[in-house]
Amino acid sequence: MKKLKVDILSLFPDYFDSPLMQSMLGRAQQKGIVEINAIDIRDFADGKHAKVDDRPYGGGPGMLLMVEPVVKAIRSCREENSHVVHLSPQGKTLNSAKCENLATHEHLILLCGHYEGIDQRAIDLEIDEEVSIGDYVLTSGMPAALVLLDATCRFIPGVLGHDESARNDTFGKMSFDAPHYTRPEEFEGKKVPDILLGGHHAKIDAWRREMGINKCAQVRPDLLAKEKL
Ligand code: ADE
Repeated sequence: MKKLKVDILSLFPDYFDSPLMQSMLGRAQQKGIVEINAIDIRDFADGKHAKVDDRPYGGGPGMLLMVEPVVKAIRSCREENSHVVHLSPQGKTLNSAKCENLATHEHLILLCGHYEGIDQRAIDLEIDEEVSIGDYVLTSGMPAALVLLDATCRFIPGVLGHDESARNDTFGKMSFDAPHYTRPEEFEGKKVPDILLGGHHAKIDAWRREMGINKCAQVRPDLLAKEKL
């Protein structure tokens, strides 16, 4: 059985408690397919005050995470096959293909930045790649680590009900999902499309594909242009 171990390094490990216990990630851990540990970077800081941040050389706003506690934290959990990811708005934007690739690793170390960022030497010494979850700035990399983890674990066999599900979802095949409906057949005058009630599976598949492509053309024409239709 393929298993993924993940160590998340941040200043607020308790932040991850609830999201990691619930739903798909909680079940994946219970099944033993995924093992996730949240590690406190402050545990690797020296001195009475366990200082982890300092002012940037050359001036500028805010504080930076210091190189030493970050490097020590990473090295404390690094294994032979670790892949170390820094969540950062300066990283390559996360997409489905990247998640599928991340899911093939045995051990991920996710480093969450705080403040204005991290001393560049920690990145140069220890980081394999920098990943952003989108063109906006979060107050830390922690929500980004959760997004990456959720989207990545879906690609590990056994995490979802059907192994193929992640690949069939929106972006797995790089077009949008068709709209979905469940009971009741009518709500406030709005009816479920007839085609879904007819039981003709080939026609339903064709309709779903068309609806997905139309929606994609409306809101993400850039994705549609990339897709081999
Ligand atoms: N940290 C702050 N902003 C981020 C972003 N957009 N993606 C990943 N990590 C971040």
